[in-house]
Amino acid sequence: MTVLRTTVPSEKTAQWWRDSIIYQLYVKSFADSDGDGVGDLDGVTAGLDHIARLGVDGIWLNPCYPSPNRDGGYDVADYTRIDGRYGGMPAFERLLAATHDRGLKLLMDLVPNHCSDQHEWFQQALVAAPGSPERDRFIFRDGRGVDGAEPPNNWRSTFGGSAWTRINDDPGDAQWYLHSFDSSQPDFNWQNEQVGQMFDDVLRTWFDRGIDGFRIDVAYAMVKHAELPDLADPAGDNPYLWNQPGVHEIFKRWRKISDSYGRDLTLLGEVWLPPADATDYIRAGELNQVFYFDLLQQPFEAGAFRLSIAETLAGLKGVDGVPTWTLNSHDVHRSVTRYGLVEAEPMNSPDVNALRTRARGPVDVELGTHRAIAATLLVLALPGSVYLYQGEELGLPEVQDLPEDTRQDPIWARSEHAEYGRDGCRVPMPWSASGRSFGFSADDAVSAPWLPQPAWFADFAADRQQDDPDSVLAFYRRALHARQQLDQAADLEWLETGREDVLAFRRGAISCVTVFDGCSFMPPAEWGALVCSSLPAVDAAERWLAAGSTGWYAV
Ligand code: GLC
Repeated sequence: MTVLRTTVPSEKTAQWWRDSIIYQLYVKSFADSDGDGVGDLDGVTAGLDHIARLGVDGIWLNPCYPSPNRDGGYDVADYTRIDGRYGGMPAFERLLAATHDRGLKLLMDLVPNHCSDQHEWFQQALVAAPGSPERDRFIFRDGRGVDGAEPPNNWRSTFGGSAWTRINDDPGDAQWYLHSFDSSQPDFNWQNEQVGQMFDDVLRTWFDRGIDGFRIDVAYAMVKHAELPDLADPAGDNPYLWNQPGVHEIFKRWRKISDSYGRDLTLLGEVWLPPADATDYIRAGELNQVFYFDLLQQPFEAGAFRLSIAETLAGLKGVDGVPTWTLNSHDVHRSVTRYGLVEAEPMNSPDVNALRTRARGPVDVELGTHRAIAATLLVLALPGSVYLYQGEELGLPEVQDLPEDTRQDPIWARSEHAEYGRDGCRVPMPWSASGRSFGFSADDAVSAPWLPQPAWFADFAADRQQDDPDSVLAFYRRALHARQQLDQAADLEWLETGREDVLAFRRGAISCVTVFDGCSFMPPAEWGALVCSSLPAVDAAERWLAAGSTGWYAV
């Protein structure tokens, strides 16, 4: 294979976020430095060499604020500090310094749609009277029916069950509060100016401490339809809960704050919408990046991938920000499992996104791995930024068979065990093939990992892959290195392949070709020589691309 010219990665300068590769850290599951079975920030600091060696531009920390952890930290009790279980503020300062020393960026997770029911504002609201300023920071309503015993409307929580919880049975005050997710996560009332001011302060607090941006949780949810109308079909999607026009005002306000720092901060919104709507969030003066999941939800098929990419690119006309591409996260089944699923079990979920991203069933791991790395090399060639999720560089499949009594995701209980939820992609990382917790905690750790690791994790351990040129880890390092040669200013131009199962496009000198199915493929000579591929070429001349793989060709 022709080796790409090696250059020193250019120092990321203005608008570094436009084509950045960010490594997502589910902190609880990355590395445990103090033996309590829970990953922490000193564990991340110790693992920064592993992350930096991949060739990423930065890291994003899932929430590590004080939290009762009913929803993996997305139930924040205090937005201004780091929880002691992750090492508190001293560990955060050590990590931030170590990250910046390596020239990497650090993004935090901002959770503005809801807080924890343990947040002091919600505790104040519970003891305040109906109609009080304390209640007005949340979405409290009287119930319907006799004695207000029925919820104010028929909305369902994304995690299952009603989206409303009644605070007590007192007939004088039996109000209900809205929670789009778990009942421990009351939604804020973004019509209340105090909420906006509180979050302005939160942004400034962390920007002042030196972080480089925020990933914004369910960014399209903060503003609800003013009348909270009943749904015609409560089991379907809820258009009144998401994507209300007023939400864009919040981003304009935040963008003014982030721009005022003059140091190229980024705001990345999590938006589970079709491409045409998602790209609305990166209009000039709003978010810099939109966290976008349409591609992740597609089957491994050339036509589906092409359509999703084309719709995104079409949505970029006239906007200012960039899309982000991701194939894995802490909310979906790992890509090896999604693409290797042999037969999906019937599934029942109130969350339409779950049906496409968390199907269960037997998996062909080899097939899934080939497809997952092929898809990775494809997204690395797209315009925009790429987010990787810890463990995908090891080719980890989803842990589908966690013992039921160890499951922690609130989806499991709220769906009355109809849906297993997201624990299987959050199992602590295997660093070494041996040891009680595969190197996640020290062998003499007091506690076992917070979720049990299966015995087969040994096969995926980082130390097994470290020096193996054929490992998934070696592939990630090679692919991310190759991406430094991509001309990020170049537009995407589709190329004709003559086959429905082969997708190809060019960006500058590089032609990216994916053979989704069928037999191997020989690209035209003018596309150049193979410079990087997810599987070895199938001929001595290194031009035939294997079925189920992606290759980059360069002239
Ligand atoms: C986002 C997070 C998810 C969380 C939910 C509620 O989708 O990624 O993990 O459960 O928001 O905060």
